[in-house]
Amino acid sequence: MFIRHWYKDNKMRGYIADDIPILVIGVVPPYRRRSIASGLLKAIKTTAIDNGISKISLCVTKNNIAYPLYVKNNFEIAEDLGDSYNMLWKA
Ligand SMILES: CC(C)(COP(=O)(O)OP(=O)(O)OC[C@H]1O[C@@H](n2cnc3c(N)ncnc32)[C@H](O)[C@@H]1OP(=O)(O)O)[C@@H](O)C(=O)NCCC(=O)NCCS
Repeated sequence: MFIRHWYKDNKMRGYIADDIPILVIGVVPPYRRRSIASGLLKAIKTTAIDNGISKISLCVTKNNIAYPLYVKNNFEIAEDLGDSYNMLWKA
């Protein structure tokens, strides 16, 4: 898992603004369904706040099982991109 800033002229899916880092998360298959991603999301929010970051964005395809994970962790839909959503968490 990481969050990383991207910029208007050099951006990846999930981009909303230069000052909002984009989250990427993955858990290796043998360790999934053990609340590891949920714990990592809590940790990255704390780390973000400690570093003066109050918003995190991401992009998820609508049928990805990660979508409910993000909703449960207070990410809200910021933009409907057709097959996917840009989502935003605010501290
Ligand atoms: C998405 C991913 C990070 C979830 O990691 P995880 O550690 O297994 O997630 P958690 O155990 O914390 O699950 C939290 C919630 O996510 C949802 N979820 C996770 N895996 C799921 C599955 N296989 N089927 C249905 N829902 C699932 C559930 O709502 C779950 O809550 P619950 O356990 O109370 O039902 C992991 O499956 C993964 O790495 N997938 C491949 C990479 C990927 O798709 N990343 C996201 C890109 S947007």
